[in-house]
Amino acid sequence: MKHLAAILFLLAAPVVAQTSEQPISGYAFMEPATQELQDDDFLNPAFFLVAEGMEIWNRAWPGASGEARSCRSCHGDPKDSMAGVAARYPTADPDGAGVINLEGMLNREIETRLGGEALAYESQELLALTALVGYQSRGLAMSIDASAQVQGWADRGEEIYTTRHGQLNLSCQNCHVDHSGEKLRGDTISQGHINAFPIFRLIWDEVGSRHRMFTWCMESIRAEPFAAGSDEYLALETYLALRGEGLLIEAPGVRR
Ligand code: HEC
Ligand code: HEC
Repeated sequence: MKHLAAILFLLAAPVVAQTSEQPISGYAFMEPATQELQDDDFLNPAFFLVAEGMEIWNRAWPGASGEARSCRSCHGDPKDSMAGVAARYPTADPDGAGVINLEGMLNREIETRLGGEALAYESQELLALTALVGYQSRGLAMSIDASAQVQGWADRGEEIYTTRHGQLNLSCQNCHVDHSGEKLRGDTISQGHINAFPIFRLIWDEVGSRHRMFTWCMESIRAEPFAAGSDEYLALETYLALRGEGLLIEAPGVRR
């Protein structure tokens, strides 16, 4: 850790005091100007995706049985049908022994109910649908089903989280638990929670998913990242959902 401290950490004093075991949202670690961007839907640079998600929600697809349908045909207004949904993901995969995250479920709906083609990870369309559905849980507490199946994946995710990776030989935990509140280049390291995604990240000048963030963190420690949608990232995401239990959903969020 001495090596790490010398290379990476420029300031020792925690900016946000951690007094309890309660998880703290990354929002609390942002500069006020960044918080204001998230607080105001008109300024929030991710917010246009909610409207774009609504266009996709209303779009007619071929339909699994050949009859053109949209998300709305079955689910009506997402304000009602999707309220609280994002706060419960990842969840047990209805088709198997794995877990499925929100992106996976949205693609499953497109493929199985609408006869459409799955949207690519990080495509603007998938980000838009995720933002639309995520937004319907804004202000609601993350609370996932901790069935044995989900717990098993969370355990696997915890192992990845606590294992050192990459040339800098750091684990996720080294930064987001041991050094949260400290400065790293221009950032203040938060506890690394996932309650605001998809996020507009100012340094990306784009919106990204949780898995894109994981990749950014892995690349920053010069590790070979896992693929978006991979089992490893699904396991990590499941662990992080349990670790952040109770945090309020902020989607679509803004981060530095
Ligand atoms: C070298 C330190 C470091 C390591 C190791 C690291 N991260 Fe990060 N992480 C950061 C920084 C810096 C940010 C951007 C500031 C912030 O939000 O914490 C960040 C942000 C995040 C966020 C977004 C938090 C939010 O509120 O939007 C998540 C999620 C995250 N990291 C997960 C991970 C995971 C999973 C791993 C392990 C694969 C990991 N990080 C490893 C430094 C690190
Ligand atoms: C033919 C009807 C039909 C269509 C079309 C359809 N769905 Fe569904 N969807 C369902 C049913 C039935 C369920 C399972 C029961 C439920 O949660 O309503 C479901 C479940 C879901 C869930 C999981 C809800 C939860 O509580 O976990 C999401 C998210 C979802 N649909 C989104 C969509 C989206 C987005 C579209 C359009 C791309 C879509 N659905 C199209 C019928 C449909």
